[in-house]
This record gives sequence, structure tokens and C-alpha cells, in this order.
Amino acid sequence: MIIRSTVLLSLLLLAGCGQSEQKTDDPVLAEGRRAFTDRGCITCHGKQAEGTRMGPALEDLSRHYDVSRLIEYLKNPDAMIKEDERLSAQAEDYVGMMPRFDYLSPEELEALARYALSLD
Ligand code: HEC
Repeated sequence: MIIRSTVLLSLLLLAGCGQSEQKTDDPVLAEGRRAFTDRGCITCHGKQAEGTRMGPALEDLSRHYDVSRLIEYLKNPDAMIKEDERLSAQAEDYVGMMPRFDYLSPEELEALARYALSLD
């Protein structure tokens, strides 16, 4: 009886491991990808963040940001654009402005930042 339940337990554990291995998608990144669509980032940056006439491609962001700096940017892009030469030069290529997203929850901002950084 003890042996049987041990076998059963091991089987259950194995099944559990298999499941978590299949789940390759990080839930925070999945949330970030959802927010990237739902919050309209795709309008200017494109579905795959490949860039449009309204906004630049989002790539190599990790050269310029860590998660907290990117969150700071999303909350108040103008402030960072003013003090950053690369950003102010880039901003001149676009008619529209990168909007502020300071009304989003800290969790959503972090998910967006992690997602954007994962695009590198
Ligand atoms: C109305 C169009 C528009 C929307 C909507 C928009 N952006 Fe932008 N975004 C821009 C423009 C224009 C720039 C370029 C500003 C600059 O480089 O100074 C920019 C710049 C950025 C940058 C900095 C890129 C770099 O090279 O450092 C990031 C990151 C970014 N946007 C993320 C987002 C995210 C995430 C969202 C949605 C929550 C979003 N944007 C929504 C227009 C937009």
C-alpha cells in the first residue's frame, strides 16, 4: 500500500513537472504583450514593435534602459526626451509624441517594460 501510493505520488510529481516545462511563456511577458496591444502601443510602434510612420521600432532597448528606467520613461517620456540627446533627435523624426502612461498600474507598467526589453 505504501509502495503503491509512493509510485502514484511520483507519477503525479512527474506529470506536474511535465506541465510546467511545457509552459514556456512567462506570465509577466504575456501580460506585457497583451497590454502592448490593449493600450494602443501597436498603433504607433506596430504589432511586433517593428515601427511605423508614427513611432520607432522598439529594439536594443536594453542598451539604454533597465526595467525601472523604462518604467520611468513610460510614465513621463517628455522629461527623459528633454535630457537625452538620442531621444530628442529621434523624436524629431515623428510628428506625434510618445504619450504619457502614468495612469497605468505599477504592475502593468512593469509588464510593459519587461515585454519591451524582451524584444531585443
Ligand atoms: C501616438 C503614438 C505612440 C503611442 C500610442 C506609443 N508610442 Fe512609444 N513612442 C512614440 C514616439 C513618436 C517615440 C519616439 C520618442 C523619442 O524617441 O524621443 C516613442 C518612443 C518610445 C520608446 C523609446 C524608444 C527608444 O528608442 O528609446 C519606448 C520604449 C516606447 N515608445 C514604448 C511605448 C509603449 C510601451 C507604448 C504603449 C504603452 C507606446 N510607446 C505608445 C509614439 C507612440
